[in-house]
Amino acid sequence: MLMHSDRHADHGPPGDDAGALAERFPRGFVWGVATSAYQVEGAAHEDGRGDSIWDEFCRRPGAIKDGSSGEHACDHYHRLREDIDLIASLGANAYRFSIAWPRVQPLGAGAWNERGFDFYDRLVDGLLERGVAPYLTLYHWDLPQALQESGGWANRDTTGRFAEYAVEVARRLGDRAASIATHNEPWVVAILGHETGTFAPGLQSQKVAMQVSHHLLLSHGLALQALRAEHCVAPLGLVLNQAPVHATSNSPADIAKARIDDGLTIRWYMDALLHGRYPEDVLEFLGEDAPQVAAGDLDVIRQPLDFLGINYYTRNLSGTGSPLAPVDDDREVTDMGWEVFPGGLTELLLRLKTDYHLPPLYITENGAAYRDCMVGGRVADTQRISYLQRHIAAMAAALEGGVDLRGYFVWSLLDNFEWADGFSKRFGIVFVDYATQRRTLKDSALWYRAFCARANAAVGAPSAQRGLPHGR
Ligand code: FCB
Repeated sequence: MLMHSDRHADHGPPGDDAGALAERFPRGFVWGVATSAYQVEGAAHEDGRGDSIWDEFCRRPGAIKDGSSGEHACDHYHRLREDIDLIASLGANAYRFSIAWPRVQPLGAGAWNERGFDFYDRLVDGLLERGVAPYLTLYHWDLPQALQESGGWANRDTTGRFAEYAVEVARRLGDRAASIATHNEPWVVAILGHETGTFAPGLQSQKVAMQVSHHLLLSHGLALQALRAEHCVAPLGLVLNQAPVHATSNSPADIAKARIDDGLTIRWYMDALLHGRYPEDVLEFLGEDAPQVAAGDLDVIRQPLDFLGINYYTRNLSGTGSPLAPVDDDREVTDMGWEVFPGGLTELLLRLKTDYHLPPLYITENGAAYRDCMVGGRVADTQRISYLQRHIAAMAAALEGGVDLRGYFVWSLLDNFEWADGFSKRFGIVFVDYATQRRTLKDSALWYRAFCARANAAVGAPSAQRGLPHGR
């Protein structure tokens, strides 16, 4: 049930200052909200869905901070219509979501699950009926557990399975999707899933992690080739988490460490995707842990991209010290402990523009967790409003610096299952009471609604761009 806190407009809309910011964006700029399947859907064992590696990981004692799982999450699976209405009510013109692979192909190979596809059909049609463009992601971390049992992403065969899955999804939904992204944040899947082990499937080996990162990129390339061979009309790309890496000091050791971290997080992905090679300094640093790369793999990885999604939350501090920064410093941080550093977004985008020949960019995730409280039916999340405003302004600065940016998605529409942090972190602009599943617009949602209304009123300069290039 949605609680409308429209009455808060009586207190003066939190969007008073939205107009000037909105006018810095071109007409046609996409303003959206984002979620991912495992974090919101719930219904983990319904209508034929298979287990994913996150279902399995959540069963591991101690893996999830509050002992929770995505089994019920926001119950989005059963509240689809209400949630689509909610998105439309915000005036967002786009919704970024992911398909749960084990919902549509329970074993990650073989039979397709029609009831799973029905759900996504209803989602996509419901969005389109309300004028909201569906931005689809194929893989937001929930690999079918059956594939993990034969090695998961460490097994090269999984790349072929993924391309088959991509083609089937595109056959069913590709005509109605505003875009299709193959992967969300392959760095997170590889490193947090296979090196630090803090995310599913919880392995701890740098060598495996780097092989996984190569296979993820390879699967992206294979999927794009297969989708284009099938004449998929949706623009195709992927989503990377990217952040400028800043050394904690000017010492040669800290600068060298920051350079390697820049290589491992930015250049590893960008060089492979756009230049068809892995950075030499990183290969040298990895030594024996560098992945096995078959002849021709990098040509497969370097497919033309119709767009690139960037998820930005904070900058990356890097150095040899431990802890990295003084614990008593007065940096502004979110409830994740992530520094609020909007200037890093402008810096990152301008740097990428300098170093690479980029396709159109979207900020596919940006947002913040805070300890929100509902008081008298209202969530006064002024810090989140400030976070969003400052990052949107940072994006405007990049746009004014010549970066071809096309859209922005707030992470997240709803408070949801925040991976290893369980339900302890709230990223939503809509508050979810998990006991009742009641949704309440936080003040940030009211602010974003006012902002979208101003932005969509097309007062900004006309866009130089006209939609995305299709089907190269
Ligand atoms: C990103 C993930 C997203 C969410 C945010 C906070 O790395 O893509 O699912 O967890 O972080």
